[in-house]
Amino acid sequence: MKRSSPTSWQKVGKWYNESVGETGHYYHQSIIIPNVLKLLNFSESLSNCVLDLACGQGVLSRHLPPHVSYFGVDAAASLIDAAKQYRHPNIHQFLQADITQKLLLKHPPFTHATLILALQNIENPLAVFKNANHHLQPGASFVIVLNHPCFRIPRQSSWKIDEENKIQYRRIDRYMSPMKIPIQAHPSKGKQSAQSVSFHYPLADFSRWLNEAGFTIDLIEEWCSDKVSEGGAAKMENRSRQEFPLFMALLARKKERL
Ligand SMILES: C[S@@+](CC[C@H](N)C(=O)[O-])C[C@H]1O[C@@H](n2cnc3c(N)ncnc32)[C@H](O)[C@@H]1O
Repeated sequence: MKRSSPTSWQKVGKWYNESVGETGHYYHQSIIIPNVLKLLNFSESLSNCVLDLACGQGVLSRHLPPHVSYFGVDAAASLIDAAKQYRHPNIHQFLQADITQKLLLKHPPFTHATLILALQNIENPLAVFKNANHHLQPGASFVIVLNHPCFRIPRQSSWKIDEENKIQYRRIDRYMSPMKIPIQAHPSKGKQSAQSVSFHYPLADFSRWLNEAGFTIDLIEEWCSDKVSEGGAAKMENRSRQEFPLFMALLARKKERL
C-alpha cells in the first residue's frame, strides 16, 4: 500500500514529469547532470551504486553509465510511477518513501548518494542527511545540488536595474532567517494554481547539519546559467547572469569514523 506523500509534489507530479521528460529540463541537460556526473566521479574498476534521494521521475538514472546501479526514492507516488514507465536496466530500482523518515531499504551500503533540486522542498534537512549517511559506505560521496541559497531565495531575492549605471543587480531582502515560502506551480493560474512549498536556510545551517550527520564537505561549486540575452539590455543581463550563480553544489563525504 502506498503511503501518503509528505510533500505537495504529488499534486504537481504530472506537470513536473512533463516538464522534465526523459532527458531532463533545460538546466538538467545543460548544467546539472553533466556536472553531477563529474562530481560523482564513478570508479571504472570498483562497483558503483547510487542512492538518489528525492529522485522525482528518475531523470538522473537515465544519464548513468551502464555499469552503475541505481536506487531512486521519492515521496510522490505519481513521480515514482512515472519513473518506472521509462525503460531501465534491471540494476535500477525505485521506491516511494519519505526521505526524512527511516528508509526500509534492504540494500548493501551505497558508494554514492545524490539529492538534486530537492533540499529546498524539505523542512528537516538534518533528517535527510542522517538517512544518507546511514545508507552510505564510509568515505562515500554525497552530491547535493540546490538553487543557490544566497542569491536565489524565492520571493526574497530579485533582479533590479540601476538605470544610471546601466547595471542589473541582485537584491536580497532576507537571508539569515529560516523561511517557509509557498510557490505557485503555474503563476498564470493565480490562486487556482497547485502549490509547492520551499524552505530556506542559510548556507551555514546546511554545513552544520552535514557535519552533525557525519559528513565533511570536500567541495562547494557555484554554477551560473548559460543562457544568453539578446536585445538592448543584453550586455548588463549577460554580465549579471555570470556574476550571480543559479545553483550551488556541495560534494560531501561520509566520515570514516563519526
Ligand atoms: C524539484 S523535484 C526534483 C526531483 C529530481 N531530483 C530532479 O532533479 O528532477 C523535488 C522532489 O523532491 C521530492 N521530495 C520533497 N520532499 C520529499 C520527502 N520528504 N521525501 C521524499 N521526496 C521528497 C518531491 O516529491 C520532488 O520529486
